[in-house]
Amino acid sequence: MSDAFDLTDCELGVATASTQIEGGDADTPWHRWADQPGRIVDGTSPRRAADHWNRVEADTALLAELGIRHYRMGLEWARIEPAPGRFDAAALDHYRRELTGLREAGIRPLVTLHHFNSPGWLEDRGGFLHHHALSVFDRYVAVVLDALGDLVPEWITLNEPNILAEKAYVEGVWPPGRHSLAEARRVMEVMAAAHIRAYRAIHAAAPGARVGVAHHLRVFAPAVSWNPLDRIGARAGEYVFQTALVRAMATGRFLAPLLQPDGVEPGRYYDFHGINYYSRSAIRNFADTVMPGTPVNDLGWEIRPEGLVEVARWLHAAYPGPIYITENGTADAADAFRARFLHDHLRAIADSGLPIERYYHWCFTDNWEWAEGESARFGLVALDFETQQRTVRESGRFFADVIARRGVTQDAFDRWVAGREYRR
Ligand code: FCB
Repeated sequence: MSDAFDLTDCELGVATASTQIEGGDADTPWHRWADQPGRIVDGTSPRRAADHWNRVEADTALLAELGIRHYRMGLEWARIEPAPGRFDAAALDHYRRELTGLREAGIRPLVTLHHFNSPGWLEDRGGFLHHHALSVFDRYVAVVLDALGDLVPEWITLNEPNILAEKAYVEGVWPPGRHSLAEARRVMEVMAAAHIRAYRAIHAAAPGARVGVAHHLRVFAPAVSWNPLDRIGARAGEYVFQTALVRAMATGRFLAPLLQPDGVEPGRYYDFHGINYYSRSAIRNFADTVMPGTPVNDLGWEIRPEGLVEVARWLHAAYPGPIYITENGTADAADAFRARFLHDHLRAIADSGLPIERYYHWCFTDNWEWAEGESARFGLVALDFETQQRTVRESGRFFADVIARRGVTQDAFDRWVAGREYRR
């Protein structure tokens, strides 16, 4: 098999999230959390991040210089609505300028309304634990549509409700630091309802817009393939973590453990499926572990390119429709294997025969990686957080070449991929 391949049906871009790149102060659960000692591994806060709020123009220019034409970005709800019902015209103007600049540079935005962060005042009222969140999310979405809707062809309502539920409400390592399965279930249910309401509202306001969710999907496998307990654990984990939730969000049909919310009718609530794919979970004694001997990234996450196609195939068979890989990337501070990672995942997409229309690499630059702070390096562009100097990594050069040539050429493979191996 040749090392080269074409990627003519899949458009490539990069993904970011507001809290992770913008910097600056806002009253959000994450700003408060970062102020508590010991919550963030390196003690950093989102106040620095990539200072993108002040560097929007230069960052747009860098995207354009690399030939990137698709950009997933987020809006910071707390900036837009700093107090309940009080909307900040200057923040909305800022995003208007950013979106206009992207479009003038020939870059198509895909905009996330909620990515793991809310206004502090909503968190004070229990965040997405209560139905109250639905009406305030509706109001925020309506204001954003009115202010920015003409500039945004495609929306992601919510990012990874399952990861938020797991980290913030089960493991307690993200704000609000809870340990309650009942609350995790509740948050997934309320967020699924919030998505369906937003889906309807966006279509009512902008019938031509495309709307989806960025789902975190993993491969679940028994750590010991013949062990019946591990097999049951893998199936159960998969069902609770993703199968039931994706079904509710895509179809409005809520199955146990999720309860059907009032006013939610069955329907089709996606124009595309967003998939954030990173890794596989090896389930051992009902715990999430890593399969021994497999390649791993800087955070110890297994690297498994074929898993991307496995989850996409399942999703497409269950709920047919266009697929956007809304995130895929790896923590690799030394840039030792990111180009190999990119090559292998893009190759899996090219060979899949699935309608994967987009691939957004996570992330454009290094960023503030939630509880990992500034320590995990996901960028195609390296960031010196002190000086804010951006330096395109070799893997970033490779990605730009793949975009320009609409595939991986043998020359590109030999230059950027050959000889770069994963570590185990
Ligand atoms: C995903 C998140 C994203 C980033 C990557 C590494 O779960 O959506 O914000 O943290 O992981």
